[in-house]
Amino acid sequence: MNIVGLNKQQLKGFTTSEDFQKFPFAPISSFREISHIHNPRAGENDILLFLAYDDDELAGYFGILPDDLTLANGEKIHFGWLSTLFVSENFRGMNIAPQLLFAAEKAYSQNLIVTEFTPSAERLYQKIGMFEDLQTKKAIRYYFKSNLAELLPSKKEVYEKNKKWLKRFDNLVNIFIPYLGKNKNHLYKISKSTDQNLEKFISRQQKNPIGRGAQEFHWMLDFPWLSTEKEQPNYLFSSFSKTYDMFWVSVYQNQQIVAAMLCSVRNGHLKVLYYFGNLNLTAEILPKIIRKYKIKMMTIYDDALNSAIAKTKTPKALYKRPLERKYMIHKAFRKKLGKDFDFNFTDGDGDFSFT
Ligand SMILES: CC(C)(COP(=O)(O)OP(=O)(O)OC[C@H]1O[C@@H](n2cnc3c(N)ncnc32)[C@H](O)[C@@H]1OP(=O)(O)O)[C@@H](O)C(=O)NCCC(=O)NCCS
Repeated sequence: MNIVGLNKQQLKGFTTSEDFQKFPFAPISSFREISHIHNPRAGENDILLFLAYDDDELAGYFGILPDDLTLANGEKIHFGWLSTLFVSENFRGMNIAPQLLFAAEKAYSQNLIVTEFTPSAERLYQKIGMFEDLQTKKAIRYYFKSNLAELLPSKKEVYEKNKKWLKRFDNLVNIFIPYLGKNKNHLYKISKSTDQNLEKFISRQQKNPIGRGAQEFHWMLDFPWLSTEKEQPNYLFSSFSKTYDMFWVSVYQNQQIVAAMLCSVRNGHLKVLYYFGNLNLTAEILPKIIRKYKIKMMTIYDDALNSAIAKTKTPKALYKRPLERKYMIHKAFRKKLGKDFDFNFTDGDGDFSFT
């Protein structure tokens, strides 16, 4: 087994190379390649993609998203989010995933965090014993329209088989389901990028230790991972969405920005990735976004925002469902930071802003 790591320079042009076309499965998408090499937090020597070869045959891969966190004393610590781990079915159970993990552990000096893992990945992490649990984030998923196609299949196979019919049913009944709740009149602006005013406003707001700022937000908006045109062939992770949009919403009072949020909408699913400033105004502006973008469902992992939404009583959801997002951290990384270190993750941290 041979493990090869690609940094920014080596990843550039990889998805259009001859080697890449010959792979039995794609280890990265073309959109992700471009995004990774523009990541302002990726150093020139950071390995962004590990490839495992058995002789000359590609057997698996492991993608990492480098990031930084800032300690209370201002010191910056570089780390990686485990992003895409895959071993070809022909090579499963041959200890390839652990070898990819050990390569990443070495490359990132043990500073690794992992979240939203599949059950098979979770078993693997537990077996290796490299990670320990961090706090779990609780979310609320709000349904504003009938969305049986999303709600039911996770529970039973029969629904998965009939997804097409569920979607047709949803579309039909949704003609008769209006958006509920009263609207307050706030002045707001939607924009595809940050201007100086918004950047100044964001820079004055409190942030968590990951503290993404204007530079990272530009990168996220300019280099998405989801194409609305074509899917990456033979790629396991998301590369395509029929509709996908990411935008800023700025709320004004007396011609000043008082609240701002970065949202994404993927096939009618709204996520508030980041919000800054007045929390109640953020919650009050959401019904307008829900109407404007014809939102079917919204997922919020932020307790404070969920409480503010509950208080405003709008937007009124037809149905709500609790969800969880688990995080794991490398044991040595946790030790370096101290047991009480609070990441206070926001919804968009890690690679969530991209999918
Ligand atoms: C999770 C994954 C990367 C593990 O890769 P791997 O190289 O097979 O890992 P291992 O060799 O340690 O084997 C994992 C387990 O699968 C078992 N296994 C053996 N043969 C297998 C086979 N043919 N198919 C599936 N699993 C098999 C192994 O016995 C091992 O069990 P153990 O925990 O009791 O040791 C791989 O299953 C995978 O790509 N899954 C799909 C993608 C995915 O879920 N990625 C994670 C995203 S967060």
